[in-house]
Amino acid sequence: MPFLKTAYKKGLKPILFKFDPEQVHNVFVGVGESLGKREAGRRLMGLMYGYHGPDISRTVDGVTYKTPVVLAAGFDYNARLTGILGSLGFGGVEVGSVTAYPCEGNVPPRLRRAVESKSLIVYKGLKNEGVDKVIERLEEEGVQPGLVLGVSIAMTNAESSATLEGAVDDYVQSFRKLNAAGIGDYYTVNISCPNVYGGESFTDPQRLEVLLEALGEIPCSAPRYAKMPISLDWEAFRQLLDLLRQYEFDGVIVGNLNKDYDSLDVREEGPDEYRGGLSGKPCRSPSTELVARTREYCGDDFTIIGCGGVMSAEDAMEKFDAGADLIQLISGMIFEGPHLMKEIAQAVAEREQADGKR
Ligand SMILES: Cc1cc2nc3c(=O)[nH]c(=O)nc-3n(C[C@H](O)[C@H](O)[C@H](O)COP(=O)(O)O)c2cc1C
Repeated sequence: MPFLKTAYKKGLKPILFKFDPEQVHNVFVGVGESLGKREAGRRLMGLMYGYHGPDISRTVDGVTYKTPVVLAAGFDYNARLTGILGSLGFGGVEVGSVTAYPCEGNVPPRLRRAVESKSLIVYKGLKNEGVDKVIERLEEEGVQPGLVLGVSIAMTNAESSATLEGAVDDYVQSFRKLNAAGIGDYYTVNISCPNVYGGESFTDPQRLEVLLEALGEIPCSAPRYAKMPISLDWEAFRQLLDLLRQYEFDGVIVGNLNKDYDSLDVREEGPDEYRGGLSGKPCRSPSTELVARTREYCGDDFTIIGCGGVMSAEDAMEKFDAGADLIQLISGMIFEGPHLMKEIAQAVAEREQADGKR
């Protein structure tokens, strides 16, 4: 593994980072999709990046993850990598966010790197092919055995969703179709996308309640989580938690992108005015703090998925220590390399053995 790590950081990454991030992403998704369709591709990736150590599987809300590391929403937004991610040390993937209608996203460039600050500036605006196409693909291609499939839903980034009624209807359509098709081991309602028409509109408790009421009418046997903002103060965050528990959500993902450009290590790497949320390192401590406060406030009977700034196995352990049941990541894989998931899994195995848990 040290060879693969060095090869990525000193060889491949400096080349990749010379190109436009969205183009690099598209190439990787194409290659990953193609590898995932071939036994030889899956086997090769498994040999290089798979986790083959002691059993560290975890069952959360009745769903078993072979490792507690999940690819966060936004990387595999059209569900094209569900054939390969299990070979890269992931226990699950959250596809999407998908929306009721196909959406081109915001005008490019909409993805920038802040290299020194280990962050991506994300202004995608929920580009995706829409829920119908994603369901069709998942029905045709299936999911690698043992890989948990989460589906994140959001509202289409268009004027039709600018009214409360239109926005709620958008989520409801996707949620209804996914449940009817039986696609998804769990669902996440993305209430905190910062880059859409009307802004982060479901972090307002009154609007959130209308959405939760409508979603509650759709029969669903899979766990339901909400993707939380990390740029709210605790009082506002707590109100959202109260509502989610009142409407019997199983847990939360903490959380989404950071909107505060002052949290970049190098402020100059960010635009002068808001043009997208920050991923990676600037998310690390705000999300970990919120994981800890949520655990303290909600007790053990509420799932918390820690997400934001997991760039190393130590960062992952910090999230678990704060009370996370699982972790999600994207930026760590991009900045550190595809060996990161295996490294985290090995650290979890070592910890469990040291604690005499297995
Ligand atoms: C390119 C990109 C696109 C994203 N799109 C979504 C999305 O569609 N839905 C969502 O809930 N989060 C989205 N996110 C946020 C991530 O899921 C995650 O919350 C955030 O990146 C923090 O994790 P990280 O520091 O490991 O990257 C996106 C992030 C990135 C980098």
